Amino acid sequence: MMMEISDPQGFLNALYRMGVRRYVSGRVEELTLSRLARQVGSCIKCGLSKTRRSVVFGEGSENAELLFIGEAPGEEEDRQGRPFVGRAGKLLDQMIERIGVARTDVFICNVLKCRPPNNRDPEATEAECCKPYLFAQIDLIRPRVICTLGKHAYNTLLGVDEKITRIRGRLTEYKGVTLLPTYHPSFLLRNQSAIGDAYEDMETLRDLLRR
Ligand code: URA
Repeated sequence: MMMEISDPQGFLNALYRMGVRRYVSGRVEELTLSRLARQVGSCIKCGLSKTRRSVVFGEGSENAELLFIGEAPGEEEDRQGRPFVGRAGKLLDQMIERIGVARTDVFICNVLKCRPPNNRDPEATEAECCKPYLFAQIDLIRPRVICTLGKHAYNTLLGVDEKITRIRGRLTEYKGVTLLPTYHPSFLLRNQSAIGDAYEDMETLRDLLRR
């Protein structure tokens, strides 16, 4: 019996969430990070697709042991199509140096793949639209450790509504992967006194990766 699929993308996403990695419809297609990037690159699920210059999928090693997740691309990221390349990105680079790994060895992405106008907070519906892409990235990269930057990434992954000051530095898990929430670099640029805590978190990450 032929079944009418009214929302092919939603159907594939649902299969993906169930752990189905190959869908046969005349041909076999395995989801890879680059296929996912192509799919995200043409996303029009929310209004941000109308205002963005670039889709910022994320970058780094496909085999990264450590995955950083930020909030959403800013102006410079939108211009270049790369995550964390503005002022906050420079600080993130210094944080990564503290861990003793190269930026190219980790993977860096955001909850939202498109810039919200004027860098406003992500709206719930935008995060809902983008979430499956983030979950798929995690499933494909299969990092040993995730570091969320700021409250949005943490709350989106765990489906909670926590304040960053309460959860920062507290180890937890996302689907069996060790998760360490730390401050967002943009927050640290405005609150220099918190930088010591963030560096402490980078040392925790270094120790976790050495295990
Ligand atoms: N802030 C983010 O959350 N992500 C970026 O890529 C840049 C700034």
